[in-house]
Amino acid sequence: MDVVEGKLFYQGKLQKACIGIEDGRIVSVKKVLKGDEHYDFGDRLVLPGAVDPHVHFREPGQTNKEDFQTGSLSALFGGVTCVLDMPNNVPPTIDADSLKEKSDRLRGRSWVDYGLFGGIAPGTKISSLQDCHAYKVFLGSSTQSTLIKEENDLARISNEISATGKVLSVHAEEDAMLRRMDEGSLRDHEECRPRQAELMAIERLLRYQDRMRINICHVSCRESLVSLKGSKLTFEATPHHMLLDSSMDLGAWGKVNPPLRRKADREEILAAFCRGEVPMLATDHAPHAPDEKERGFGEAPSGMPGVETGFSMFLLLVKKGVLPLEVLIKAACHTPAATFGLNKGEIAEGRDADMVVIDPREVRQIKGRDLHSKCGWTPFEDREALFPQTVFVRGKVVIDDGSIVGDRRGREVPR
Ligand code: NCD
Ligand code: ZN
Ligand code: ZN
Ligand code: ZN
Repeated sequence: MDVVEGKLFYQGKLQKACIGIEDGRIVSVKKVLKGDEHYDFGDRLVLPGAVDPHVHFREPGQTNKEDFQTGSLSALFGGVTCVLDMPNNVPPTIDADSLKEKSDRLRGRSWVDYGLFGGIAPGTKISSLQDCHAYKVFLGSSTQSTLIKEENDLARISNEISATGKVLSVHAEEDAMLRRMDEGSLRDHEECRPRQAELMAIERLLRYQDRMRINICHVSCRESLVSLKGSKLTFEATPHHMLLDSSMDLGAWGKVNPPLRRKADREEILAAFCRGEVPMLATDHAPHAPDEKERGFGEAPSGMPGVETGFSMFLLLVKKGVLPLEVLIKAACHTPAATFGLNKGEIAEGRDADMVVIDPREVRQIKGRDLHSKCGWTPFEDREALFPQTVFVRGKVVIDDGSIVGDRRGREVPR
């Protein structure tokens, strides 16, 4: 048995104790433990690794933007030890063959554990996607998306999905309400994709809440929070919708779907998050190459990287006293794991030993050139964050003192 000692986040609070690890799992948590290898982190924080239920690592087909190796390395350095990867690949991951090809291709190449979404197009047979971890539907067009628009398609899908017990994550914008026009600014982009399109999509999905497990991706406006309150739907908020808005001078670097909205939206989503009213933090890490973003606003693709900076910036909000630690751990670790059936997201007996060690004194400035995503830029340039010093993936140290010391041992999580 190996032992990790420090100030653990255990049973809802920080306490000085030891974690016993065997075969990559946590086997006990006690005040004192003796082991073969003993890692003593003193008064530094030992937290569960984050679980990001929404990333785009771009394999197969768009490896100029990212690949699974660089995307997962970026996750690792951000303290994210498990990701769920989206299916809007080229070709899209929407049937048994493409899913198997993707799964085969990723084997042995990831730094963190991962699960794969199965994408749903109008003709998709849900039964053919049995090997996916969860399902994904786009109700509105986004980057490389395959759309579901017809009510009867949605109804059919809901019946088939309910039998699987798996979650359906939805890009909730009504396609019919999106306008195509010449766009030159973030405000234009917002106008093209009005908040009503998100609200209508959520209203539509609420009618299915008793039939299947639905998760709303990247909620962008205050009205959506109101409409989701008290429902059975889970939802995600992104760091960019909580820290950036359309009044900022970001140009096409800030172009994303759903759009960045007003300052009031950003502040309200962040406040709701800090009160524990947002079930999950998800980065929607959607990297694009700099030359693609520099094409001019109208031509630039939507999406921005974020898997390395999300958890780490929110850890800094904890240090600043804006966000309670237990709220962050719940939204970034525990609830994503519980929602998607992953044996992760908490320091507890039986869970995978995925942990990050944080020294609250080591605040660092974010620089795109220091990050590990292939895209090489970040919309959060010069902001501050608390990056992990040490990261454990299933009981093994992979990052120590901020550099790689271990093997690439990520694997597809059991379904
Ligand atoms: C995403 C992408 O680039 O894959 N883009 C985005 O603006 N969020 C797709 C998506 O999640 O909608
Ligand atoms: Zn000890
Ligand atoms: Zn989306
Ligand atoms: Zn996305």
